[in-house]
Amino acid sequence: MTGPSTVRAIRGVRDILPPESALWNWFEQQARQVLEVYNFREIRLPILEPTELFARSVGAETDIVSKEMYTFTDRDQTSVSLRPEATASVVRAYIEHGLHTWPGLVKLYYCGPMFRRERPQKGRYRQFYQIGAEVLGTSDHPAIDAETIELLVVLLERCRLTQWTLWLNSIGCPVCRPAYLARLRQALETVAPRLCADCQRRATTNPLRVLDCKVPEDQPLIDALPKITDFLCEGCRQHLDGVEEQLALRGIGYRPAPRLVRGLDYYVRTTFEITTPHLGAQNALAGGGRYDGLAEMLGGPPTRGFGFALGVDRFIEVMQATGSVHIEPALEVFLVWMGEDSYAEAVWLARRLREQGFVVEVPPEEMKLRRALSLASRQHARLAVILGPDERQSGRLTVKRMADGTQQSLSEPELVALLQAGRQADSENHVK
Ligand code: HAM
Repeated sequence: MTGPSTVRAIRGVRDILPPESALWNWFEQQARQVLEVYNFREIRLPILEPTELFARSVGAETDIVSKEMYTFTDRDQTSVSLRPEATASVVRAYIEHGLHTWPGLVKLYYCGPMFRRERPQKGRYRQFYQIGAEVLGTSDHPAIDAETIELLVVLLERCRLTQWTLWLNSIGCPVCRPAYLARLRQALETVAPRLCADCQRRATTNPLRVLDCKVPEDQPLIDALPKITDFLCEGCRQHLDGVEEQLALRGIGYRPAPRLVRGLDYYVRTTFEITTPHLGAQNALAGGGRYDGLAEMLGGPPTRGFGFALGVDRFIEVMQATGSVHIEPALEVFLVWMGEDSYAEAVWLARRLREQGFVVEVPPEEMKLRRALSLASRQHARLAVILGPDERQSGRLTVKRMADGTQQSLSEPELVALLQAGRQADSENHVK
């Protein structure tokens, strides 16, 4: 007889289990710290948005909107979608709450799951996590682009990731792009029949997207197409020069990437990506760019914008692959209590230690010493602290160091000092 079938997570959607979740938390904490010292503040956004928001910003013709969104009709007949990205939501919120009235630049960051129905593979999931930052306001100064990229570089350094490349491009603006698009369409007329089916379609619907194509056979043909950087107007050329100077000023190296148009339609001028050799085909750790005019397209006031999003799943995978950061959440004290009379004292001792930030486990039921020590060892506890009738009487705790089995009799302050010394050693070992 077979039991009921089990229910599994859907394809491309994962559970993040401990101990890996500790590395996620560490990473998110680092990212938040870096973003906050660059004066970004968190915005918490909805995961469900009107489908129209993405169609009008990311672009109805993009793969993200045309093929990859999780969309459904709500009971009131409106079409809603799980967000595939969050820049559109930030701009919607900026308009909805009149953030253009805030003084100076509006610098916001977000953190959370995004949904795209892509073919799952290493580094590519249907539910994945982004941390993103957006700078909105009236200025489009290249220092904004460079400083925002700088903070990503700082985060890479914190994660001890050294092998990465910053790719930089400008995709022009409504002044110069039409001439480029006309030239591109013209070039595609002869080339398109030799490209993949998707590119043949894109050649007429959205020719810039041809430049995104990843099909290996198409690459030599696409590389030979006209380059947008040869068509930039004076304003866009100066802006790109400005971003390059501002990056150089910050000691940040980059490589030009004339084909980097990115898979979203809202970009103007700067586009960039950071790639790593550790991820195989899904090699982009982060990407972003400038989106001046997006707010107007969504019915808001004239606004300039620049931002990026990084893939948390991918950062974690690279940190794991390179072993750059090692985070092991430690169980510091396994508190073995013996005799019902000791339980209340164990509860309060645990409470005091936890108030000082130490990780303590108190078994809910009395255990034989041998079993308790075996469990402490299997849970990788640092110390087993034994509290029984003898300890209660002497006022000293029996403390066993699990690593080498050495045992000492310590007062509570001495135990705390020992735990603090362990913490100190630990923090020195955290980031290797
Ligand atoms: P994006 O390039 O589509 O840009 O995504 C940013 C990052 O999210 C990618 O570089 C990658 O690390 C990660 N990512 C994207 N799709 C997946 C996936 N299926 N699985 C795992 N990771 C993924 C944006 O989303 C823009 N909103 C960025 C932006 C912000 N531009 C301006 N402001």
